[in-house]
Amino acid sequence: MNITLKIWRQHNASSKGQLVEYQLNNVPAEASFLEMLDILNEQLVLKGEDPVAFDHDCREGICGACGLYINGHPHGRFKNTTTCQLHMRKFTDGETITVEPWRSEAFPIIKDLMVDRSALDKLIQAGGYISVHTGGVPDANAIPINKHNADLAMDAASCIGCGACVAACKNGSAMLFVGAKVSQFALLPQGQVEAADRVQKMVARMDELGFGSCSNTYACQAECPKGISVTNIARMNRQFLAAKIAEPLK
Ligand code: FES
Repeated sequence: MNITLKIWRQHNASSKGQLVEYQLNNVPAEASFLEMLDILNEQLVLKGEDPVAFDHDCREGICGACGLYINGHPHGRFKNTTTCQLHMRKFTDGETITVEPWRSEAFPIIKDLMVDRSALDKLIQAGGYISVHTGGVPDANAIPINKHNADLAMDAASCIGCGACVAACKNGSAMLFVGAKVSQFALLPQGQVEAADRVQKMVARMDELGFGSCSNTYACQAECPKGISVTNIARMNRQFLAAKIAEPLK
């Protein structure tokens, strides 16, 4: 198939960027979106031009590195699909595809389509972990957890931290990401001990890092490649209010 690409090119964080048009012919329909960019880059290198910088790692929909804004949607317009799992057969022959980086104050552009998403790591460092001693590996069923909560915790834990929720949100809010990370622990007994501290620290850090507030547009849920539900935001808000009243941070 033949396609026209409009790709955001920007030399570094401080330079001015622009959309640059490329014509790419004979792209295999079975190629993934990232493989299509690889083909483009091989052609650019052969011509002595600067290849397009973009993030990727696992190419299996697991790591969350491949964040690209494709035709106005994070990871493209197809539901529950990361950029690396998006295939060219989903596009039409002759289509023009616009590719941009995540745009959010908290994610400064490094180069072209690469952005600095370390703000998400800083949110995890603020409390997205369990530091209490949980003992050795317990026997199966030694810690009873009801099936409903186990399923909800697993769903929340499927967040891959790609940042699509932030990029999709008109406020640049990270509420879905933090809601998922808070929920995956809050729903399990091992996460209870530090729950009050965790939610308050992560919410405070979210504000410090320049993420916006949530205004309930649900764009994050609609664009999340892992189908993370906004009910995780509601759970985080309930936890936050309860913690503020019962166990405010010193
Ligand atoms: S490259 Fe890992 S999720 Fe796409």
